[in-house]
Parts: sequence; C-alpha cells; structure tokens
Amino acid sequence: MTEYLGLRDKWNQRHLEAADAGRVAYVLQEYPHLLPPSGRALDLACGRGANALRLAACGLEVSAWDISPVAIDRLKAEAQEQGLEIAAEVRDVIACPPPENTCDVIMISYFLERSLAPAIIDALRPGGLLYYETFARLSVSTCGPANPAYRLADNELLSLFEALQVRCYREEAVLGDTSRGVRDVAMLVAQKPG
Ligand SMILES: C[S@@+](CC[C@H](N)C(=O)[O-])C[C@H]1O[C@@H](n2cnc3c(N)ncnc32)[C@H](O)[C@@H]1O
Repeated sequence: MTEYLGLRDKWNQRHLEAADAGRVAYVLQEYPHLLPPSGRALDLACGRGANALRLAACGLEVSAWDISPVAIDRLKAEAQEQGLEIAAEVRDVIACPPPENTCDVIMISYFLERSLAPAIIDALRPGGLLYYETFARLSVSTCGPANPAYRLADNELLSLFEALQVRCYREEAVLGDTSRGVRDVAMLVAQKPG
C-alpha cells in the first residue's frame, strides 16, 4: 500500500508541474492511417492523455487509465475543453489490467511493465492493434530513465509481443547519422491475428 501511494504521489507531482497534455507518441504521429475508423481504444498509463485525445479525435471510443488522479483530472478537463469524449479513470493497470477481448486498439507510451504483455495481448480483439513506444537502451541521448530495467533491450518489443503480427517496427539505435531520425526509442504497431 505504501509503495502504491509513493508511486501515485511521485506521478501526481510530475503531472502537476507539467505545462500541457504532453506529446503525442511518434508511433501515433507516424501511423494514424493504420487505425480502424471506429471501435474501442484504450490508452494504458495515459498520463495527461495526449494520445487519448488524438485517438478520440480520430473517431475512436476511448478509455484512458492512469494511477495518477492529477493526470486523470487534467485529461478530463482537456477533453471537455476540446469537446472530446474520453472515459478517463484512475486505475492501477498492474492490479487491474484490461479484461480479455475488449479493445480494438491499445496504446502504450513510455510505460513498461513486462509482466502485463500477456494481458495486453488477451485484451485485444481479433484484428486489434497494439501501438507501443518507449525508451530503448541503445540510445544517443540521456533522455528517459537511467535504470536499464526501465528501458527496452534491443528488439525487445518484438519478443514481448511475438504472438502478434508486426505491421511496423522502428528502432534506429545508434546507426548512421545520429543527429537525424527518431532516436532513443523503439516503436511497434502489431496486430492480433484472427
Ligand atoms: C512516463 S509517463 C507516460 C504517460 C503517457 N503514456 C505519455 O506518454 O505521455 C508514465 C505514466 O504511467 C503511469 N503509471 C505508473 N504506474 C502505473 C500503474 N501501475 N497503473 C497505471 N498507471 C501507472 C504514471 O502515472 C504516468 O502517468
């Protein structure tokens, strides 16, 4: 319980100090054309919900969950301001992962809880899409968590979600001209078979 409160307080503080809803993940900026025209989307560990807002603007019925009440309150206010409907909820997604077969799209950015991978796959409906982006260990800057446990190993998203069909995968590591490209992260769009 103390650990839960500590985590919540840490994130509340960060979300309180942040200026805006945050940045839409590159994977959603790059591949919005792969989204279905309608259906249920879940932004898991949504933070202040930039991705949730974008998914709702794309016509999806969006739920957004985060452990931080501050983040969820800010998302609710922003959604109202933009005239978008989002079911935003304070929820510990590790204790209460999404139920099976409920989502057409799951969006996860900058949240890495490896033990949730099977539940995420099960929560997708057949044909459903996972959009995932987070920090990789092979990186050119010091952005993101210093602890390597909170960063993806080389190509790790591909093995975590090997039950899904890869539609797009991008991880540029430290190849070539590192002043160009999208660095420090790995991104995946993958589809549940069926
Ligand atoms: C780095 S932020 C990313 C937020 C958002 N996805 C984005 O890309 O802007 C990580 C988020 O995970 C949330 N979080 C951490 N542990 C969580 C948990 N067990 N359940 C739900 N949310 C959690 C934090 O409150 C925080 O908003």
